[in-house]
Order: sequence, then C-alpha cells, then structure tokens
Amino acid sequence: MVTERYKQNAQHIQEDLLWLEKIITLRFEIHHGKKSENTTLPSAPKFKGESFYKEITSKFKFTAAERVVLLLALIPHIKPYFLDDVWIRISAPGKIEGDKLQKVGTMPSVDLALFLLAGDDLEKRFYYRKIFDQESFMRTAGILIMENESADTPFLQQPIRITPDYLHLLTDGKDYKPDFSISFPAKRITTNRSMEDLILNSRTLEQVKEIKSWITHGKTLLDDWGLGDKLAPGYKILFYGPPGTGKTFTAALIGRDTGLDVYRVDLSMVVSKYIGETEKNLSKIFDIANNRDWILFFDEADALFGKRTELRDAHDRYANQEVSFLLQKVEEHNGVVILSSNLRANIDEAFMRRFQNTIYFPMPSVEERLRIWQQGFSVKSKLDKSISLEHFSDKYELSGGAIMNVIRYASLKALEQQKYTIQLKDMVNGIAREFSKEGRTI
Ligand SMILES: Nc1ncnc2c1ncn2[C@@H]1O[C@H](COP(=O)(O)OP(=O)(O)OP(=O)(O)O)[C@@H](O)[C@H]1O
Ligand SMILES: [Mg+2]
Repeated sequence: MVTERYKQNAQHIQEDLLWLEKIITLRFEIHHGKKSENTTLPSAPKFKGESFYKEITSKFKFTAAERVVLLLALIPHIKPYFLDDVWIRISAPGKIEGDKLQKVGTMPSVDLALFLLAGDDLEKRFYYRKIFDQESFMRTAGILIMENESADTPFLQQPIRITPDYLHLLTDGKDYKPDFSISFPAKRITTNRSMEDLILNSRTLEQVKEIKSWITHGKTLLDDWGLGDKLAPGYKILFYGPPGTGKTFTAALIGRDTGLDVYRVDLSMVVSKYIGETEKNLSKIFDIANNRDWILFFDEADALFGKRTELRDAHDRYANQEVSFLLQKVEEHNGVVILSSNLRANIDEAFMRRFQNTIYFPMPSVEERLRIWQQGFSVKSKLDKSISLEHFSDKYELSGGAIMNVIRYASLKALEQQKYTIQLKDMVNGIAREFSKEGRTI
C-alpha cells in the first residue's frame, strides 16, 4: 500500500523532474540557436504540503543550481531512463518512447550539469563547478560522493553520485544503515550488556569515559565554545593491549551507552595486494561514514600496520604508504574513530601523538579476574561446591576473553549432561585449553 508520506514525496520529486525537463529542453534550444543565450532558466517549483524531499532541500536552502545537481544525482536511482526519454522527446518528437533499445540509462556527469546550468559559457561553468568542490556543502554535508581528483577520469566526465545516505533520506525519509558489502566492508556491532559489566582498572575506565564525554559534549566544544578552528576535527582513539582484554567489547558498549552506531571495519577485506586498491577501499568507507554520527572501529588494525616500521622490499613500501593513508584519513575524519591493536612494540611516540586518547588495556588483575568470573556465568547455572572462583582467579592468569571461553566450555559440558551444575573438571579442562592456545601448561 502506498502510504501518504511516499505519495507526497513522489509528487514533489516528480514536480522537480518536470522542471528539470524544461531546463533541458530550453538548454537544447539555446544550444541550437532557437532561443537567445540570455533566456533565463525556469525557476524551481514551490512545493505544497510536506515531504522529506522538501524538508531536506529547504533545510539546506538549496539554490536552483544545486537542486538541478541533486536531481541528476537521484536520476540513476529513481528513473534511470529519464534522461534518455527526455532526449528522445527533444530530438525525435513523436517517436515511441517505450523503445527500450535506444535507452542506455545515461549516467549524469559533472559535464552534463555544467552544460544545463551554463551552456558553453566558460565563466559560468567555472562558477557552477564549485558545487562539486570538496569544500562545497553538497560534499561536506555528505550528499555527493565524487571519485578522487587524481583518478584517471577527468573531473568533468565523472558521474554525479549521491551517497546511499541521502538517497535513503530523500526517497524513504529514513536513516541509512548500510549492510556489509564490498564497498562497505563494515558490520554494525551491538551489545545487550552494560558499562557495569566492563571490568577495568580505574585509569583505563577513566579514559574510556573520556570518549563518552567527547561524544556528549564535543559539538558544544567545537561550535558553541568556538574551538572548532583550533582543534583537529573528530576524535581519534587508539586501543592497544593483549588479546581478550575487552577492546572490542568496550567499543560496542560505548555505542550502546551513547546511542551511536558502531561499525567494525574488517581490515582484512580492505587490505588488497593490488597497488592503490587498499587506499580506494579505505576512501569508500570514510566517504560513506562522512558526517555520520557513527563510531568507526578498525578492529585488528595490525593487519595494516604490522609492517609499519620495517622497510624491506617494494611490497613493504606500499604497506607503509597504506598505513600513512589510513592515518591521514583517520585524522581528517570528522567523527569518532577507534583503532584497535595488539602490537605494543610497533606503536611509537610519533604514532601515539596522532590520537587524542590512547588507551592501554592490560591483562586483568586478580580482583578483576574474580569479578569477570563472577558475572560471567548464566543465572540459570550454578557452580559445583568444589569450585572456588577466588582460587581460579588467584591461580590462573587469564584475560577476560579467555575466562569467557572457559565459561562457555564448562557451561556447554553441563548442558550436554542435561545438568545445570558446572563441574570442576570441565573448568580445569577449559582452562587447560585456553593455556594451550598460548603454548602454556596448567
Ligand atoms: N575487561 C573486561 N571486562 C569484562 N569482560 C571482558 C573484559 N575483557 C574481555 N571481556 C569479555 O571477553 C570477551 C572478549 O573480549 P574482546 O573481544 O573485547 O577482547 P579484545 O581486547 O577485543 O581482544 P582482541 O585483541 O583479540 O580483539 C568480551 O565480549 C567480554 O565478554
Ligand atoms: Mg577485539
């Protein structure tokens, strides 16, 4: 069923497309000398009623030229043959429009936009080209994405692309939550647990809370307090420490606590052996995340900066460039970015300085281990009398992740026996398994 909200929205977009068709027709007439160069383009329609399309175009106070660009960016997604149809109507009036063979689904390019807005007038073309500049509002607000200027295709031939974000907002009125894909190798991570479940020493916990403070007050600091000109954009955090100490868990908790979506980027899918590809993949991620209230979480960042300091062969050299590129992108990004790493040795001062907050996640102390043990079991299970968690925490140095693995193992063993009681031998076996992963014996 077509709901009213879609109907009204479609109506407004349709009105704008009709207006665009008039502009195209007029531009062709001018181009072929049928109308004077000075003919003014028809003015943009004023919408009656409310729609998300109207809301967004008026919120940003789109100029007529920007509205033309927006429509061109939308066309491939809403009416891919629109330009072909208009072209047929203009060049061969009376011809049957349904003739699919002639339609190619023309991709609107920067050049087409400039032609419609400025014809052949170079001065005007330069003026309108600004709409596509990196600093233009359509780029900074995250409405348009353009290829890198350094790409092989000359700028004018580049397609005008709308971000998936605004495509959703303009057609659905909804926020876009991307799925994992080749162009967005990131997954949203969530947790049902709460900050109280995070067991950390007070210093580490304090630093984690600073992130929350930034997320809550950062905008006020940059805008109202005017520090935006003096401080780097966004907030960059480095998590480092041994495996299983709660880095990924903390990232998910911060998201839950602040209501922001956390996207965990799979760096193994980003890193490519082909030269230049890794950079391209990273650019796509940052483009999509631009201006979104997301937390970008680069987990296992070691996949990229494992080789940062050593320079051996040509391939290593590229690995280094890729790291510099990632760091540069991270630095420019205006949101919250967290990088997570296990490698302490590879992290030097110069590297640390790029982050506003570097948080070390140490192995838990005896007391912390005890708390992780105590809160880890299901409320449905109970421990055999012979089990002393104090003893386990005291005797076995395990990370929180390893403790959870033992709990999972011993709980499954109990379930297999159709029992609710956790057995001592399963606990000991579970610990032995965790130790053997690290080449340790119990
Ligand atoms: N400090 C902690 N407090 C409470 N639970 C913890 C803590 N550390 C780890 N855990 C538990 O262990 C699980 C695994 O930890 P997590 O995946 O966050 O470790 P990590 O530091 O990201 O490890 P890696 O470096 O291998 O990615 C968590 O989901 C959580 O249940
Ligand atoms: Mg992790």
